Amino acid sequence: MRRSALPVLALTGALALAGCGGSGDGDAKAKLSVSSSYMPQPVSADMAAGFLTITNKGGTQDELTSVTSDTAGEITMHDTVGGAMEEVTSFTVPAHGQLVFKSGGNHLMFEKLKRRPKQGQTIPLTLTFAKSGPLTVEMPVKSATYNPSTGH
Ligand code: CU
Repeated sequence: MRRSALPVLALTGALALAGCGGSGDGDAKAKLSVSSSYMPQPVSADMAAGFLTITNKGGTQDELTSVTSDTAGEITMHDTVGGAMEEVTSFTVPAHGQLVFKSGGNHLMFEKLKRRPKQGQTIPLTLTFAKSGPLTVEMPVKSATYNPSTGH
């Protein structure tokens, strides 16, 4: 009879937990992850571009509000409209969607570089969001002509 008491206790515990989490915020928050990050080796010693994809598996949108790295004095975020780039102060990461930075579109601009990134190195980045906690990324430096669709 002692042994049969255990499953009952476990079940009660599970019910209590479910009651606690009843707000169901599992899907209500943004769930962010970063992939496909790279920096083409810059031709200039003081400026470089960077690209990455932020995926949101959550049910709420978030906003990328800043990007920092100890290798650059400043990182600005740009979009490209009609072939001309313009600086923006934030990017929306849509619910159940992606924010994509790619050549010819949205991009990060690394300015005031403290050292010139070389192919094979990685650049540590911190992404800051309006709601979610910060994400850190190790962005690999690829060749100057790297194309993510061909891998070289
Ligand atoms: Cu730009």
